[in-house]
Amino acid sequence: MCGIIGYIGKSEAAPILLEGLRRLEYRGYDSAGLAILNGTLSVRKCKGRIANLTDLIGREPIHGDVGISHTRWATHGGVTDENAHPHFDESGKLALVHNGVIENYQTLKEQLLSEGHHFKSQTDTEVLAHLIGKHFEALGGEASGPRLVEAVRAALKEVTGTYGIAVMHEAVPETLVGARRGSPLVLGIGKGENFLASDVSAIVGHAREAVYLRDYDVVTLGRDDFEITTLDGGVSGFKVSKVEFSEDDVNKGAFPHFMLKEIFEQPESLQNAIRGRLSVEESTAKLGGLNMTPQQLRDIERIVLTGCGTACHAAMVGEYVIETLAHVPTEVEFASEFRYRNMPMNKDTVVFAISQSGETADTLAALRESQRKGHRTLGICNNVASTIARESDGGVYMHAGPEIGVAATKSFTSQVAVLTLLGLLLGRIRHLSTSDGIRIMEEMKAIPEKVREILKQNDRIKEIAHKYAYAKAMMFLGRQFNYPVAMEGALKMKEISYLHAEGHPSAELKHGVIALISPEVPSVFIAPDDSVYDKNISNIEEVKARKGPVIAIGTEGSSKLEKVADDVIYIPRCPDYLSPLLTVIPLQLFAYHLAVKLGCDVDKPRNLAKSVTVE
Ligand code: G6P
Repeated sequence: MCGIIGYIGKSEAAPILLEGLRRLEYRGYDSAGLAILNGTLSVRKCKGRIANLTDLIGREPIHGDVGISHTRWATHGGVTDENAHPHFDESGKLALVHNGVIENYQTLKEQLLSEGHHFKSQTDTEVLAHLIGKHFEALGGEASGPRLVEAVRAALKEVTGTYGIAVMHEAVPETLVGARRGSPLVLGIGKGENFLASDVSAIVGHAREAVYLRDYDVVTLGRDDFEITTLDGGVSGFKVSKVEFSEDDVNKGAFPHFMLKEIFEQPESLQNAIRGRLSVEESTAKLGGLNMTPQQLRDIERIVLTGCGTACHAAMVGEYVIETLAHVPTEVEFASEFRYRNMPMNKDTVVFAISQSGETADTLAALRESQRKGHRTLGICNNVASTIARESDGGVYMHAGPEIGVAATKSFTSQVAVLTLLGLLLGRIRHLSTSDGIRIMEEMKAIPEKVREILKQNDRIKEIAHKYAYAKAMMFLGRQFNYPVAMEGALKMKEISYLHAEGHPSAELKHGVIALISPEVPSVFIAPDDSVYDKNISNIEEVKARKGPVIAIGTEGSSKLEKVADDVIYIPRCPDYLSPLLTVIPLQLFAYHLAVKLGCDVDKPRNLAKSVTVE
């Protein structure tokens, strides 16, 4: 969702900004633009891909060493060139890019209109640009960095809603100003140059150090220095962090798409999720970041897991795993429902907010609501500098590395791995024996290698995906631990191939889903050799009897599937509770290859955003 990058330094700004925008593409966008200062402000913006903007700049070059740029994901106002950012104030001398939503923009706009302002777009952002410009004029005196910062502060105090912004003014060419509330913004520190970005990936390779700004921070950037203050003008305590990622982490390397690269990274990302967290001595998991004593962990009576999209599916797997390993009642709720639902929760309920980005607006709101009610609220995040990671009372990092493909893949398996560690930890302080603990740990340690085995079948999975590319719709069916995997398999297929896909518990087939079965509607059964294997086989027979093609995910050596399904993809044997970590891999590859076959842009699917930072 909307991406910002700003630059002030000694190099040409346009190539740096365009490269940064390309790296932010994964967040999801529908238009892009930039403004560069070189005596006067010049702007280039258009709807569509960054390639369109690059072409525009090729035709109408733009030079200068200070600039701001933006990828827009429309919320207020349609997808048009006029609505693309940057936006200008009434004087045309101040430019602004914005991520977030100005909730009271209508009221502010009416006021500004009555004062004689003219607007060119339908966006809430343009209103903010005018408001800052108005304050800049009203402050009077010499045009200077402090005056611009003062104007930004004054305007933001009138605003309700969320923002991450970058601002510049023709009269103050040595200064960029940034501010945030609710939308991420990072300051990148270079040599003789500084950056602002929504996401550190945009400035990897340029900035070695970064400051992850906090809500209500206002930052002033010069070429050689920066200053971070609060919205009230006070001193902001901030921390300079090393930029940990390399350019390899944010590039596709030899892979045609980020999604495929990330699917193939899963042996390592899973290894990283469990590394250092299995204690042989105590035969249990160690999750120090939870900040809870063994007694506090024992006192947990109920767990609520919340998240959105794929994170919610991982939570659903977590519900089965935690209840199986630890016997702690566990419930899953979409974060968007949780935040408005008044769930009765006793005092020993612990809430986990699960989010790869750590910035999803609904998940953040669910976390805050849970904390408001006095519950210990922990995070399971990938982005260590994220708002959810910062605001939670503790948690577990996924350590999956940057996930750029919009369709979440490695973050799902990392989330499931972390929830399994949690199940093991809670189980061991309840009823699991030392030998149970050792057995579970050994099985977990074997998972990365088993994922590697599945990935070796990539070519075969591609062939199968191509065979079913004719499908009009697709059903994904599974039971128990693999019911959430069916949901996730369907979500992957919808997101990147735009094929109608539904995920259901296999047994629900007879209660409606079966009406949709036909030769044009294949079913994917997730049917490993587990406690419900035979039940799944019966469900497959029911589909076959209605001429529905069946692709099955089964366990090596389980021959019954061959007899009933049209195609079978095998996973290595593992305990039931770990099977989602394996069964999901062929489904990710299946969706990927089918989408590529259909000519879809898998890394940037239509209408989707990687990080949904508005409600
Ligand atoms: C968006 C993404 C999904 C993701 C969901 C939650 O919808 O497109 O892939 O699962 O947000 O994201 P989070 O960062 O909170 O895990």
